[in-house]
Amino acid sequence: MDTKRKWNQKHKERVNHQEVPEPNARLKDLSAYLSGGTAIDLACGLGGNSIFLARLNYQIQAVDISDVAIKYVKEQADLLDLAINPQVFDLTEGDHLPLKASSFDLAVMTYYLDRSLFLPVKNSIKQNGYFFMETFFQSQQKEEQGVSNQYKLKPQELLSEFGDWKVLFYEENEQEGRQTIFCQKVSG
Ligand SMILES: C[S@@+](CC[C@H](N)C(=O)[O-])C[C@H]1O[C@@H](n2cnc3c(N)ncnc32)[C@H](O)[C@@H]1O
Repeated sequence: MDTKRKWNQKHKERVNHQEVPEPNARLKDLSAYLSGGTAIDLACGLGGNSIFLARLNYQIQAVDISDVAIKYVKEQADLLDLAINPQVFDLTEGDHLPLKASSFDLAVMTYYLDRSLFLPVKNSIKQNGYFFMETFFQSQQKEEQGVSNQYKLKPQELLSEFGDWKVLFYEENEQEGRQTIFCQKVSG
């Protein structure tokens, strides 16, 4: 089954079960830094992070390959009157990435890993803007997650990838097998 169909099916089940999308718990804890502006939510799913950020006065571009997810996010944005612009987009289509240079105050990418996005995402963030990412990593304690190592970060990977940014929060949770970073683009 191709990626789009697979995710459409998963999202359809969640919508049918009336699962309410929640924001990422670590992102929520960092709300003191989140004072509004322009933001992009990459591979937004059902939009838990987008809805949370829009309520903090961000104008959000929310992109995902799944039209089921994007339709749901659009309905929620209209219902709740939130500034979210949801778009179906395949992030592997590098040539047309919605990532113009220095256009976002914040970029968020949770539980989606494509290392080729790091450079364009970095460039799309404004000076002093923020990046938040969380996904699985190759933890010693949590190996069985039904996720192959190809889709997991290496230990310390986000720290070294964003080594020249100001790291405001970093965590590797061995039990849950997740790695989280929140960092700021600073000069020099
Ligand atoms: C594990 S979900 C994470 C959703 C959301 N970021 C969250 O943390 O709840 C992964 C998401 O990536 C999306 N996705 C998978 N491949 C994609 C691609 N090539 N381009 C854009 N989105 C993609 C899926 O539709 C799905 O919504």
